[in-house]
Formats: sequence, structure tokens, C-alpha cells
Amino acid sequence: MGLQVRFLAVAALATISQASPLLLSRDDSSSNITYAFTNPNGLNFTQMNPSLPNVTIFATGGTIAGSADDNTATTGYQAGALGIQTLIDAVPEMLDVANVAGVQIANVGSPDVSSSILLEMAHRLNKVVCDDPSMAGAVVTHGTDTLEETAFFLDATVTCGKPIVIVGAMRPATAISADGPYNLLQSVTVAGSKEAKNRGALVVMNDRIASAYYVSKTNANTMDTFRAVEMGYLGAIVSNMPYFFYPPVLPTGKTAVDVTNVTSIPRVDILYSYQDMTNDTLFDAVENGAKGVVIAGSGAGSVNSAFSSAIAELITEESIPIVRSTRTGNGEVPYSESGDISSGFLNPAKSRILLGLLLSKGKGFEDIREAFGKVAV
Ligand code: SIN
Repeated sequence: MGLQVRFLAVAALATISQASPLLLSRDDSSSNITYAFTNPNGLNFTQMNPSLPNVTIFATGGTIAGSADDNTATTGYQAGALGIQTLIDAVPEMLDVANVAGVQIANVGSPDVSSSILLEMAHRLNKVVCDDPSMAGAVVTHGTDTLEETAFFLDATVTCGKPIVIVGAMRPATAISADGPYNLLQSVTVAGSKEAKNRGALVVMNDRIASAYYVSKTNANTMDTFRAVEMGYLGAIVSNMPYFFYPPVLPTGKTAVDVTNVTSIPRVDILYSYQDMTNDTLFDAVENGAKGVVIAGSGAGSVNSAFSSAIAELITEESIPIVRSTRTGNGEVPYSESGDISSGFLNPAKSRILLGLLLSKGKGFEDIREAFGKVAV
């Protein structure tokens, strides 16, 4: 049976199998799977072949677990409809490259992935993958819309050197030529690969391997959407064999953040700059609880003159860290002397994650400036 047919078949079972328990257990009634092995962290493996690497798949939902009534629909479907075991069952080729265990962390569209889900994921990945010498790596299945935020977060917070691979799909599981099954197989292969170690978190989609630090979704619809325009890809996958273009290296300005004792991430808002932008958007954000603000400025971070004065006022009077990034999608926002902090090469979404993480550790203005300064000329 081909992958496509299998996916359609399991999609039909979706309504039965989407109960999404936090951890699939032996007596999970939605699956008649028999687990071969349960490890001390409670991870259930469908096989335990000692010659293969052990990989955990954390599932969060998204299009890769999406289901539509029409097999030509690539919009307007239900993201996060299929459970993790359904996804695993649909790609038995995975068992040729790894022993896999599935963990259902959430089953939502990625705009609903919250900072508490991110923290939960980081804590669990650090425990069940990093701290367990028998685990080779992990895959996180995710909706593509905010995938770059989760990827950046995990890159900063799960830093043991084991491959953490974030994967999504642009076509729901029920579509003709769904990209999810092969993306999932490729990501499990990369997560189990020794060559993938010590490169930070990775995004694997559409036969490409990218650094989670820089990659972004660049097209709302197409399958070749994940790119880091200036930084490029780390590698490619051909016939399910990963090939890395360079030896392992981490992004130059990367800041690692230990979230072991972090229980929440302070609110950081992003404000998009435009010609008639008014100051109240900034004051309202802070009044409503934002502890930091990222501006998606025009060009190299510019905002109109009145808004620039409002930024200066807020920094002076409230000591709110304000980071200026760019809405252009590429390039650097250079060092600024006017009190606000430049995002360097980080886009607004990634700047928000970094600022939230730094605030969660109680970092002050100068530490925050220093962290962003590492990603700048
Ligand atoms: C989502 O981000 O959850 C929906 C879109 C996608 O996964 O491609």
C-alpha cells in the first residue's frame, strides 16, 4: 500500500484516534498497537531494534496532522486532527531508520502553540531526550505558520547537542501528494543521524535541512516555503539520506537559555510599523501587560518621528525594553544609540522569542542589548 493510500486510510480513522492523551500508554484504546518496549521515562516504542537509533516524536498538531473532506483542499481544512500514533502508523518506513516513540504534547493549529506549551516541550525534551543517553534525538511535528518561533525557542533552550528536528507539512494528510509522510520520515532519519549533532535545532521540510535559528516561512502556500534567504540551508536529503554541506557549527550570535526553573514567559508584543502608525499602539501594549515590545520597523527598523519619541519616552519612564527589528524579512537593523535595542539579523518573530526568554531569566536592559548585539555587526 502506498504512503498516500495509507494516509487516506488512517485519516478515515481520525475521529476515533484524536483523543490525544499526553502519553500513549499500552492500554490506549484508540490504537491496537502493541508496544515492544517502555523506557524508564514512560516512552512507548513499537519496536526496539538495538542497531537503530531511538527517536522521540513530540506531536503538536498543524497541517501535518490535518484532515480535509476534499483531497484537493490545501486551505480551509482542520489542522491538528490526527493523533501522533496515526502519523506514525502511516509511515512504517520510519521503523527501518529508527525506534520511535510518540508523545502527544498538543493537537492544535500552530497559532495556538502558547509559551506554556513551548516551556512544557523544552522541559520534557531536556528530560527524556537530553538526559537519557539511550536517546539519539527528537522530532517535533508542528504547524508551519508559527513553526519558526517554536524552532527558535527549542534551539535556545534544548542545547545538549542531540538533533532536535522540527517538521511540518504544507498539505494536509488527506491531500493528493501530501508532503507530511515523507517530511516525517526525513525528519526522523535526520534526528537519528550522528552527522546532525551539534548544529542546534533543525527544520526539515521539502528535502532540505535548515538551521532553526534563521529559517522562516516565506510563502503562505507553497511547499518550498521554509528558507533562510541569506544564510541558506545546512543540507539536503536525497533518497532519504541526509547530506550536510558543512561540518557542525552553531549560529554566530546564538544565546542559549536554561529554562529548567522557568515556569512562565513574560508577555512581549510585536508592533508592525507603517506610515501613520500611532503612539497609542505602543502605550496600549505596555498598559495591557507587555513587559517588552518588538517593533517590526520599516527598512532597517525605521518608525515615524512621533513614534520614535514615544519609544524614547517609554524606555526612559518605564524601563521597558524595546527591540527594533525589520518588517522586510531580511537584513540587519544596526546598533542604535537612542535607547532602544537593535535586533541585528533576527526577524520580529524570533526577536520576540529571544526577548521573552531573556525577560523570563530576569535579564535587564544591558544584558538584553548584549544578547541582541551578538547577532549584529
Ligand atoms: C498551522 O500552522 O497549524 C496551520 C498551517 C500549517 O501547518 O501549514
